[in-house]
Amino acid sequence: MHVTHSGPMQRVADRGGKPTAETFTIDDREIDIRPGETIFRAARRLDIKLPHLCYLPKPGYRADGNCRVCMVEIEGERVLAASCIRMPSAGMKVRTQTDRAKTARKMVAELLLTDQPPREVAHDPDSELWKIATRLDIAQGRFPRHETPGPDRSHPAMAVNLDACIHCNLCVRACREVQVNDVIGMAGRGHGEKIVFDFDDPMGASTCVACGECVQACPTGALMPATLVNERNVFTGKPDRAVDSVCPYCGVGCQLTYQIIDDKLLYVTGRDGPANENRLCVKGRFGFDYVHRSIPRIRGRIFARRAGRRRLSAPPAA
Ligand code: SF4
Ligand code: SF4
Ligand code: FES
Repeated sequence: MHVTHSGPMQRVADRGGKPTAETFTIDDREIDIRPGETIFRAARRLDIKLPHLCYLPKPGYRADGNCRVCMVEIEGERVLAASCIRMPSAGMKVRTQTDRAKTARKMVAELLLTDQPPREVAHDPDSELWKIATRLDIAQGRFPRHETPGPDRSHPAMAVNLDACIHCNLCVRACREVQVNDVIGMAGRGHGEKIVFDFDDPMGASTCVACGECVQACPTGALMPATLVNERNVFTGKPDRAVDSVCPYCGVGCQLTYQIIDDKLLYVTGRDGPANENRLCVKGRFGFDYVHRSIPRIRGRIFARRAGRRRLSAPPAA
């Protein structure tokens, strides 16, 4: 069986490899095979959107194939295949809308919802998981809940609520492979398995550099910007508009989007620019609260100089 690659082949797929002469079909539509491109990504070229949780179709993210919410049926194969990690082969016939594939995807989503807090008190009712639940018409899991870890609000900028964690591993890849910080890991076994920071330290006491990549990647609201939840970790409101901009801090030129509510910055998401490919550092991600502080503003053209403060006259009009 072919699986996805990280590294150069994944990069080729991310950017769209060159078409080959070989083809396969998805829902009876013929499509060319491209180097490193999975069934999931090929389906997107046909505008067929399959659900995804443990895979993030963004630059730098390797597919892991662990949640199984993206399963499809392949003619002649006994078991369903995770489309995010499966490569097509010439002549393959993939079907995304069979009863078997749809039932399996719905069951997976329902199982993953089992331990989630109810939607009305969800940490992020707009998360990818709840969006999938809405699309698949699932209100709440019908299976018994397990005990889940308590909240961790030790970090000033991020809220950790592992009762919403589905162990998809995306935050581990975000931290280890995308940002190369290696703070987050999986610890424990079976029902005791959980996300940990360093040696199971509170996030705020860990070596986390607060890049927020894990928060941006998490599909459930288990990791969130702290500005989005109240002290009981319940979602407090979504932005009413989004403004694309460039990080004001340094010359790298990271592209970002300000998420705004009532004319106030609520949180920041990274945007796919040539310099940052969605990533941000702590300043771009969380360093925006100064905008709302009542510090004295720079008035007119007053500039501080190392040798002392001096009022400069306004430059002549052009
Ligand atoms: S904020 Fe960045 S460094 Fe901290 S845990 Fe998340 S990905 Fe790792
Ligand atoms: S914290 Fe979020 S990203 Fe990390 S494993 Fe849990 S659900 Fe996935
Ligand atoms: S998105 Fe494909 S297995 Fe999780």
